[in-house]
Amino acid sequence: MTGGGETGGGAVAEGFRELYGYAPQGVWAAPGRVNLIGEYTDVNDGFVMPLALPHTAVAAVSRRDDGQLRVHSADADQGVIQLGVEALEPLSDTGWAAYPAGVVWALREAGHRVGGADIHLASTVPTGAGLSSSAALEVVTALALNDVYGLGLAPRELAVLAQRAENAFVGVPCGVMDQMASACCTEGHALYLDTRDLTQRHVPFDLAAQGLQLLVVDTRVKHALGDGAYAERRAGCEAGARALGVRTLREVEYAHLFDALGRLADETVRSYVRHVVTDNHRVERTVALLDAGHVRAVGPVLTEGHTSLRDDLRVSCPELDLVVSAANAAGALGARMTGGGFGGSAIVLVEAADADTVTKAVGEAFAAAGYTAPRVFPAVPSAGAR
Ligand code: ADP
Ligand code: GAL
Repeated sequence: MTGGGETGGGAVAEGFRELYGYAPQGVWAAPGRVNLIGEYTDVNDGFVMPLALPHTAVAAVSRRDDGQLRVHSADADQGVIQLGVEALEPLSDTGWAAYPAGVVWALREAGHRVGGADIHLASTVPTGAGLSSSAALEVVTALALNDVYGLGLAPRELAVLAQRAENAFVGVPCGVMDQMASACCTEGHALYLDTRDLTQRHVPFDLAAQGLQLLVVDTRVKHALGDGAYAERRAGCEAGARALGVRTLREVEYAHLFDALGRLADETVRSYVRHVVTDNHRVERTVALLDAGHVRAVGPVLTEGHTSLRDDLRVSCPELDLVVSAANAAGALGARMTGGGFGGSAIVLVEAADADTVTKAVGEAFAAAGYTAPRVFPAVPSAGAR
């Protein structure tokens, strides 16, 4: 797996031919993402604002009518994994194949006539870096099966089925943001998404025209959302909603936050509620700033979001905190962790002219702290699955 841009579709088609001995029906691609603002809001019916990266999972796929699913990844060393689609069982230990197999299972469970397939894929989305390499795998599989089986499902329906695969088949209780980002983002835009009803607006986010860059800093601290801390945050938010007598925290208005906090006895739940309600508000503030053309003013909102994730939701880690403090001290406009946290990546909004200085400062801060050198690259708002 490389840290670079797009995997060549031709190379993946060729890999398929060598592996399975015939030509694929087609080649599909789905990107990873960063989230500009709105974290842990999707598991509370709230707002998010992701953008797709140029990094993609690319899959060459053919339909099989014998109920056999064969999957192969150029990036994993397990060879071809073969599974019978009738026998697919949620939470069975199929390793990385759980992502494509989970999508087949979710489509079938929803009543879609999907049988077997041969799949060969390769991805440039770094894994375990909080950049949604797994959602890219799910979405590329869903899109390919939608086409080869002629299901006629819309991108947002595929995203919801991909989330179902991750929740029920893989066993990670994630929200719908990553799959929606991978399926629905458009080039040059951030996706303003209401996760309650999946209404969306593509907000222009043309950084280059503004002389800006959004850097991704992969701390190389592997995050794992399956280990319980993510589920604990989600459960804490649900406890907050119950205590406040609302269905989800989305229903707590920012203007009533002070009152709501006063009604919560549990200190941990109170701080989770404060994070979710203020982060929903930060998404709305960010959209208003972008609509008004004040892109630079988004920087401080990002840093505020980081403080909230660090102190209220407590999902950051020392390496992510160091990216934010070192980047801001070196002149960044703002920075924050992105995605589920506990490692993974941060984003840094900088003047393009300052990108090198800020990158160097973060690298030096990591070296001084004895941390592994981070990987830094620009987030160019790219197209969703195709
Ligand atoms: P993230 O989605 O943030 O990268 P996850 O831990 O949710 O992190 O997903 C990473 C997992 O997705 C990997 O451990 C692997 O099982 C699977 N995965 C991602 N990309 C690939 C790939 N190219 N080939 C095989 N498995 C992959
Ligand atoms: C993960 C998860 C998303 C979202 C995010 C935090 O990336 O998959 O659904 O909850 O963490 O905002």
